[in-house]
Amino acid sequence: MNKPLDLRDLPDLPSQARSAKSLKTATPQPQVGISRVHEAAHLHVSGEAVYTDDIAEAQGTLHAALGLSPVAHGRLLSIDLEMLRRQPGVVAVLTVADLPGENNCGPLVHDDPILADGELRYLGQPVYAVIATDRELARRAAAMARQVVRTEALPAVLTAREAHAQGLYVVPPMHLSRGDPAAALAAAPHRLDGEWAVGGQEQFYLEGQISYALPQENQGVLIHCSTQHPSEMQQLVAHALGWSAHQVTVQCRRMGGGFGGKESQSALFACVAAVAATRLRKPVKLRVDRDDDFLITGRRHGFDYRWSVGFDDDGLLLAAEIDLISNCGHSADLSAPVMARALCHFDNAYWLPHVAMHGYCARTNTQSNTAFRGFGGPQGALAIEMILDGVARRLGLDPLLVRQRNFYRPGQDVTPYGQQIDDHLLQPLTDQLITSSAYHDRRAEIAAFNASSPVLKRGMALTPVKFGISFNVVHLNQAGALVHVYTDGSVLVNHGGTEMGQGLNTKVAQVVAHELGVPAHTVRASATDTSKVANTSATAASTGSDLNGKAAQDAARKIRQRLLPLAARLLDCNETEVVFNAGQVHGGDRSMTFQALVAQAYLNRLQLWSDGFYATPGLHWDRAKLQGHPFYYYAYGAAVAEVVVDTLSGEHRVLRADVLHDVGQSLNPALDIGQVEGAFVQGQGWLTCEELVWHPQSGLLLTHAPSTYKIPTANDMPRDFRVALFDAPNRADSIHRSKAVGEPPLLLPFSVLLAIKDAVAACGPARCDPPLRAPATPEAVLDAVEATRAM
Ligand code: MTE
Ligand code: MOS
Repeated sequence: MNKPLDLRDLPDLPSQARSAKSLKTATPQPQVGISRVHEAAHLHVSGEAVYTDDIAEAQGTLHAALGLSPVAHGRLLSIDLEMLRRQPGVVAVLTVADLPGENNCGPLVHDDPILADGELRYLGQPVYAVIATDRELARRAAAMARQVVRTEALPAVLTAREAHAQGLYVVPPMHLSRGDPAAALAAAPHRLDGEWAVGGQEQFYLEGQISYALPQENQGVLIHCSTQHPSEMQQLVAHALGWSAHQVTVQCRRMGGGFGGKESQSALFACVAAVAATRLRKPVKLRVDRDDDFLITGRRHGFDYRWSVGFDDDGLLLAAEIDLISNCGHSADLSAPVMARALCHFDNAYWLPHVAMHGYCARTNTQSNTAFRGFGGPQGALAIEMILDGVARRLGLDPLLVRQRNFYRPGQDVTPYGQQIDDHLLQPLTDQLITSSAYHDRRAEIAAFNASSPVLKRGMALTPVKFGISFNVVHLNQAGALVHVYTDGSVLVNHGGTEMGQGLNTKVAQVVAHELGVPAHTVRASATDTSKVANTSATAASTGSDLNGKAAQDAARKIRQRLLPLAARLLDCNETEVVFNAGQVHGGDRSMTFQALVAQAYLNRLQLWSDGFYATPGLHWDRAKLQGHPFYYYAYGAAVAEVVVDTLSGEHRVLRADVLHDVGQSLNPALDIGQVEGAFVQGQGWLTCEELVWHPQSGLLLTHAPSTYKIPTANDMPRDFRVALFDAPNRADSIHRSKAVGEPPLLLPFSVLLAIKDAVAACGPARCDPPLRAPATPEAVLDAVEATRAM
């Protein structure tokens, strides 16, 4: 018998080798500008990068903190405001009565109170705001909620299953079906019924929620806000104040991560800070403590599933029926579009001839769940991957074979929501990954290892990803940009997107540099600002560079067009001969610097700045029928994960992960590989270690700090991590034929969960199907091992 694995003893691959390998296998070379230049890397490593809390505070700045509901559900009877006002440093206490405008910070349905009004809907809901001379004093007073808030408790609904049983939803149920699944199910040679659930996930952005509001002259307010959606912050603040949008300016230089958590849920903090600042006529900052951030804001929706599928002897799916129940929390927030994306990703990579999906958005007395990288896509696709794994185990087939057999193929390539798939990248991509990862040889090695290893079990799985790119709501797919060329030839670009670490500003600057033929370092991206580009969409749905890159390209192109006739005249050539490249402008046998051309253009009174706009073509979507062409294109990828599980402790280690991911023609391979690696480990965290626990009676989120909520660390990275980019330009006319990369790779680590399940299956008889929960924490793995051994 071999000794239990000391998980710390596995040899580390030198990190240099790892990244060198990643970069070497990343076939596409930088196509645009100079990819070595990251617009802010030097600021990040030196600590100079400015986040909202780093902005120098204006004199007289006050600090806000929120008093939170001590009960999960109840009536708000009274608040002892006098007691709060007597606390040291307290300048003011605001309740719902002090809001001049609408008490709502909900993005779609106006059902999200800024401050509680009569009803308390979850433990952690903001009830009042304390404004004090410093942050500690504000927090001290705010923390007195249990003493000052009088409530009458009401029965709370804490789980989605319970809400579903009672018919409590935040939006009406959604149904998406095709064919006759009931008949196909009855006629199928085999049938599998299952129930399963996956937990939620905290965004755990390193920079918490923060807003800093500064009153401006003539009834205006400027808000520095860590947000993915400055325009929506502007709108919601205007409504809360009862003002017009042009009185409110929202700025965001960068976020220390958003991951969807700052798409809508930055609003509450922006509204409170803005109301306090305008009322007191003082700058007010609201920076939320990590524990409060956990208690106040929502996160990825946990999903419950119930399915029945029919299939044949080869594992081909003939029929599928599934209920998807999401835990939405107390309000709608973005839960409806999250469910729509889940329903549109249940097919993942597979042809489902007869299918019925029923999406239920359960209302519970918990934080209101929201966007998180993948936006429901992961929860939809994970279900079909679990199903196919179960089908393969039932039939005693390699799950990979069953997956490949069910792939969309020409002739069987219309999604349940009616979009035709016109590229079939997944087969060649998967074949390439099978070869590069030596999948079949390693399968055999793992079987041999497991046969002689009673305690340590290895497992492996390959899972594919197909992810639709575009907002499911057509009108959101638009963007604007401004490009300024100054007389010294330097360039400033502003666009509607926000930087959260994904490298959007670098990509947009590269696009502008390419268009004007100047070195990337001569292009600077300024902070996102609602007074520059108006009516922007959230930087979300992975569309940041697709939309803003195109808009910036449009702006830069207009400037170049205006410069062309002058350049041709100065270079004494035809316009068609003029080339902008590397800071030079060439034509015929002459050339001049871009700077010299620009200086001449100014003297000739040419407009050296321009706006740009982009709207994604060809999209349509019927929200009632859940039918149409919601996605401009799909991004693909696949991953093979190999794990070792210690069946005595339930711990596991990802020994190796091979990823082949499709980013079209990469705008910046270094950034794209970073996104793939980050998303992979983040998804791995969701499925293996990040567990949310609410107290079953009180409804208190018990896992509200890093001490109890475990995100993956550098130690959890795959020991051998091989990320490569698939070499194929986007068939759609996207920005330089690239593809969005932000979210799709979060689905790659499904392979980790299923590899763990595969390892656990090695504890039981042939064809056993281990009941593994997600997240696959050591406890969950041990439970599954025990159940599997008993099979
Ligand atoms: N990468 C970093 N470093 N930080 C983030 O907050 N958010 C993700 C992804 N990658 C995020 C990230 C999410 S949820 C989305 S939708 C996209 O980035 C948004 O940016 P993009 O559209 O420019 O890719
Ligand atoms: Mo990303 S979840 O679309 O912000």
